Amino acid sequence: MADEAQSLTGPDLTQGFEPARLNDGELLLGHANGEAVVIAKDAGECFAVSAKCTHYGGNLARGILVGGAIRCPLHHAEFCLRTGEVLTPPALDPVKSWALEIACTLSAKPSASAPHK
Ligand code: FES
Repeated sequence: MADEAQSLTGPDLTQGFEPARLNDGELLLGHANGEAVVIAKDAGECFAVSAKCTHYGGNLARGILVGGAIRCPLHHAEFCLRTGEVLTPPALDPVKSWALEIACTLSAKPSASAPHK
């Protein structure tokens, strides 16, 4: 059976990614620490789960988002985006999920209208 998610393609997600790159409902295939990972943006929130379906290795980056879940393109198992748990068979085992860290960089500069002391 297909095992499309074996090769690592796309960005190294440990180096960060810009959430604004994804539109709602889009998927991004990348990798983290040697594993294929798919980032999904659903209802304005980003989630990270394994790109490899636990059933027969379907590439979840080619799946679709359905109400907080990602559906495998091969046999339509669905996994919760938040936890990776199986919501719809035929998969029996959950996919790995990752917590995403939100980081921001601030730089302070005086605004044009700020009073100077
Ligand atoms: S490979 Fe994903 S449901 Fe079968």
